[in-house]
Amino acid sequence: MVRELPKAETHVWRFPLTSQGINDLNHLTPEEVAFSAKFAFPHLQEFWILGRQSVRRILSLYLDCRPEEIIFLSGPQGKPYLKDFPNLHFNFSNSGEWGVIALTRDREIGVDIEKVDSNLDIDEVSQVSLTETERRHLSIVPPSEKSSWFFKYWTVKEAVLKALGTGLSLEPTRLCLSLEKSKPEMLWIEGQENVTTAWDLKPLSLPEGYFGFVAIEQKALHVKEFEWPFAV
Ligand SMILES: CC(C)(COP(=O)(O)OP(=O)(O)OC[C@H]1O[C@@H](n2cnc3c(N)ncnc32)[C@H](O)[C@@H]1OP(=O)(O)O)[C@@H](O)C(=O)NCCC(=O)NCCS
Repeated sequence: MVRELPKAETHVWRFPLTSQGINDLNHLTPEEVAFSAKFAFPHLQEFWILGRQSVRRILSLYLDCRPEEIIFLSGPQGKPYLKDFPNLHFNFSNSGEWGVIALTRDREIGVDIEKVDSNLDIDEVSQVSLTETERRHLSIVPPSEKSSWFFKYWTVKEAVLKALGTGLSLEPTRLCLSLEKSKPEMLWIEGQENVTTAWDLKPLSLPEGYFGFVAIEQKALHVKEFEWPFAV
């Protein structure tokens, strides 16, 4: 059965990258199998294989084809899209033991999740990734919450950069967001105007210790979250 994705909806699937176990290389193309063989660390290889298999399986729920038939192409800075279904936009992110895929129709989408790294020097990394406005907010939050606020800013920024298709080839300080109100807001993207009306930025429901956002280039979409695997 083909799963519906109404135009006014965005679907976000989270999936564990460990508990499914890895029995085989099902659904991967010969190129993907060859790529996966190059990982130096077995756990990273397993994360990559499980991520790619889950992405193929979930996308195949929406497309009338088998997971292995899906053909990915990449934009100029590496953003993947579907060769035969360019209007079905998707983006994938993984961190630690979790992966996420977000899908929507006819508009750009980006997703990012991060597992909190408690060893990170937040002040140092904020200098190169956050704008002055964002750092000012970080400076007034309770010290015990600083790390989680940093990861919220980081993931919402990276989700936007992934929606734009640039990834980190566009410096994260070239855009400014506000998480101070209940609704996350895009304040500016360098070189672009009127961006405030054009972004839907939603925090994701994730296991403890993870933060994530989906960024969609259009407002008023209903974001539905699911967990894979489930009984279809
Ligand atoms: C893309 C990028 C933002 C990913 O960040 P990350 O936190 O390490 O990884 P995530 O798990 O969140 O995302 C990885 C996935 O994002 C997707 N992706 C890759 N490039 C992307 C881009 N430019 N825009 C949006 N999504 C992208 C892919 O699906 C990738 O998964 P895969 O490696 O299994 O194919 C980061 O690696 C980056 O910006 N790299 C540099 C991009 C660049 O300079 N490209 C120029 C090369 S021509």
